[in-house]
Amino acid sequence: MNDGRNERVNTQLVLRNVPQGLTEIDDFETREVALTDLEPGQVMVEAQFVGVEAALRLIVRDSDEFLFRVKPGDIVRGTVAGKVVESRDASVKVGDAVLVGNGVQKYTVCDAAEVEKCDLEQAPLGAWLGGFGVSGLTAYFAVFSECKPQPGQTVLINGAAGAVGSIAGQLCKLAGARVIGLTSSKKKCDWLVNDLGYDIAINYNDGGWFQQLQDNAPDRLDVIFDNVGGHLLDESLKLIGMKGIVLLCGSTSQYAAEEMSGPSNYIWLGTMRARMQGFVIFDYEDHYPDARRRMATWVKDGSLKLPLHEVSGTIGDFPKAFRGMYEGENLGKMLLKLG
Ligand SMILES: NC(=O)c1ccc[n+]([C@@H]2O[C@H](COP(=O)([O-])OP(=O)(O)OC[C@H]3O[C@@H](n4cnc5c(N)ncnc54)[C@H](OP(=O)(O)O)[C@@H]3O)[C@@H](O)[C@H]2O)c1
Repeated sequence: MNDGRNERVNTQLVLRNVPQGLTEIDDFETREVALTDLEPGQVMVEAQFVGVEAALRLIVRDSDEFLFRVKPGDIVRGTVAGKVVESRDASVKVGDAVLVGNGVQKYTVCDAAEVEKCDLEQAPLGAWLGGFGVSGLTAYFAVFSECKPQPGQTVLINGAAGAVGSIAGQLCKLAGARVIGLTSSKKKCDWLVNDLGYDIAINYNDGGWFQQLQDNAPDRLDVIFDNVGGHLLDESLKLIGMKGIVLLCGSTSQYAAEEMSGPSNYIWLGTMRARMQGFVIFDYEDHYPDARRRMATWVKDGSLKLPLHEVSGTIGDFPKAFRGMYEGENLGKMLLKLG
């Protein structure tokens, strides 16, 4: 007789305690959970890739200020890409490639309506967490619906070599703009210019980075696409151009800070009749399929790359990958690839 117990055992990642500073490996722990048989309408997904998101550091803070808070004892919030291994819903078949955002775990059991199917003709499975996932869609809508760069304009991307930045820069190039990227090393700068077609890339760990930026933007910056906040945003503001836009996509440098700090050079927004614009990707949810169709044509003709930075491991290796991303290891989207 079936007692409702499934043969598979799940591994979930749980927050053990509120991190201080950058996360430590033992701020997290794994737990094994017995799986039960599916109810009608449910599916089970086996994860093959786990997306590593910078914003996780914001939502594990000891604060209810931010949406989607994760508290000690909670499963770590995250999205996985994988294959359906069991289904009790006619709309989803075993073998379907899907995304599901119910936390960092090996198996996800959920209602069929909670999974999103991935068309692997458009992009490989891992890319559905990167350039074809929220990161790439963020870049797409932030560029085309908010920043709207024009041919001949100059765009600065802060956090240029990350998941969002690496796509945003390429999209600004497709729009005809001149693109400057800021990142943390020569290796990343070379990659941005040689592989992704950035016009200029500047290493902010070089003492003279601001001077280099100024020299490369003699007509100032029409767009600052900011992923990091903090000092880099503050300094960049001195170069915002007339009627320029500063797109506040993310503030990675502030997520782990005890006291967050804002820009002091905002005076340039007034002088230059420029504006800062907030942005949240979820406002564009209804338009994701259109964006993906358009991006798929660029991927096919070679004008858009979907860079993935895969590290292999198990669910228990997620904290290492997460920390590595904060230490700037990633070129493109950081993914944990499960064996
Ligand atoms: N608004 C939205 O709807 C939305 C959606 C998705 C993501 N986001 C935000 O977009 C930003 C980028 O996300 P992502 O997924 O593309 O992450 P990511 O850029 O791939 O990864 C984080 C990168 O941030 C940089 N970094 C880490 N600590 C830093 C510090 N203290 N100062 C400056 N840079 C630092 C590192 O790059 P370097 O080596 O270049 O320093 C690191 O590789 C995040 O803030 C995220 O929360 C917003």
